[in-house]
Amino acid sequence: MSRYYLTTPIYYVNSTPHIGHAYTTIAADILVRHQRQRGDETFFLTGTDENASKNVRAAEEAGVDPKTFVDDLVEDHWRPLPARVGASPDFFIRTTDEGHHRFVQEFVQQIYDNGHIYEDIYAGLYCVSCEEFKTEDQLTPDGLCLEHGTKPEWIEERNWFFRLSAFQEQLLRLYDERPDFVLPDFRYNEARSFIAGGLRDFSLSRAGQPWGVPVPWDPEQVVYVWVDALVNYLSALTYARPGEDLREEFWPVAHHLIGKDILRFHCVFWPALLLAAGYEVPRQIFVHGWLLFGDRKISKSSGNVIEPLELTEIYGIDALRFYAARVARFGQDGNASADDLHERYERELGNDLGNLVSRTTAMIVRYREGRIEPAAWDSPFRAELEQLARLVPARLDEYDLSGALEAIWVVIRSLNRYVEERAPWQLAKDATKSEELDRTLYDLADGLRAVAIALAAYLPETASRILVALGQSDDLAWEGVAYGRTAAAEGIAAAEPLFPRVELETAVA
Ligand code: ME8
Ligand code: MG
Repeated sequence: MSRYYLTTPIYYVNSTPHIGHAYTTIAADILVRHQRQRGDETFFLTGTDENASKNVRAAEEAGVDPKTFVDDLVEDHWRPLPARVGASPDFFIRTTDEGHHRFVQEFVQQIYDNGHIYEDIYAGLYCVSCEEFKTEDQLTPDGLCLEHGTKPEWIEERNWFFRLSAFQEQLLRLYDERPDFVLPDFRYNEARSFIAGGLRDFSLSRAGQPWGVPVPWDPEQVVYVWVDALVNYLSALTYARPGEDLREEFWPVAHHLIGKDILRFHCVFWPALLLAAGYEVPRQIFVHGWLLFGDRKISKSSGNVIEPLELTEIYGIDALRFYAARVARFGQDGNASADDLHERYERELGNDLGNLVSRTTAMIVRYREGRIEPAAWDSPFRAELEQLARLVPARLDEYDLSGALEAIWVVIRSLNRYVEERAPWQLAKDATKSEELDRTLYDLADGLRAVAIALAAYLPETASRILVALGQSDDLAWEGVAYGRTAAAEGIAAAEPLFPRVELETAVA
């Protein structure tokens, strides 16, 4: 059996989740669910990055101690995030976990013992929003943070430095040996040229900060939050399942899904830290683009402005998941809008898929008293479903979430054309066409069943509703994406609309 380990970034908890965080979590969940369908043993990790100095500041502003501050935010907003978007991680890591602290200390101690850490004075700029030491090329001509537009702070303190510069050769070799270490290609090139341009040692600790993981050999300092955060991908494996160490099984198959904002940390610093501590680097890092929700204000009928993430309350979780995969080629930036979501909800989910399920079940009721009889034949859908079963995994192996979804939609459109061409309502009028009608209805039911399995990673709730509507088992194994696997069934009823109409006025104002 093969294994698959996928991580999302652990999110900062100084504010509440928004559509961008949902985007990564949804994409990760689609990939993991798909691997599970292929029979892989999977481990899916997400969680929160809590030891940041910006959390301390936000707590101070809120007038509470940092622990109370992060506990409240995590439990009220961040731990519920995966379920809000239909995601099912195996573990939710918090970097305030005791198990994480213990492991971070062990990890940095290993690097220290291996001789890659030295003491020096850091004098330079630091952006608290990025939690990043800044060089001039990372700032605007006026000296502001490129991402946050804020003025970085000048800090001068005694720190422990990580000898990143010593890893340049090794990293370049890694990139040359493994051209798919970072995907897409243009991100690989970006990371590689950053390394080739020369690497500077960086502070692995911060002074005068009581919040965080103490440096084991110098407890006056805490581990720099980015080092602490990156280590989550390993630490979680040591305590997610009490009494088990999952590192051996899952570390060699680690895949990181991240946004382009944190490329350097993951593609340069993290592999170097791992090599310094004596670990293998992850199997692969996929860097996706930004989702920009440029839009007029979205309001509920009550007139309250809603966050894009709350669109699930209007359209349902599956619709948001669908849209996340549909809005842009995964990897590129995406321009999302409530209008575009609405339009795709009506046309693609409502008409293409929802109506097809309603029509198919209604015809099975009307012409065959709710029975599906085995009637597999030399149907054109044999080849079409065979191709679907091949294309979707191939595209998802390349993180092409939109391409794989499009391959599924090709079959959905083809099934819709089939209804029109075969016109079961005509066949039903002619007793000599009874077998043709059986075959047609079978193909529609079977095609929808296979499509439901193929779609299950994207639309888990919808997929199961389709299978139930067709009286089929809820087995989602990928082998089911094939022609002729529909079991005889009876008592089929006309399905309720999967994607009920949403009045635009109530959705977007
Ligand atoms: O950077 N479009 O946390 P963070 C797409 N704690 N993705 C987006 C997005 C958008 N508009 N906005 C956020 C941190 N994201 C660190 C990570 S990991 C060891 C530590 C997603 O809360 C995307 O995945 O700023 C991005 O990389 C991540 O949220 C940043 O989340
Ligand atoms: Mg950020």
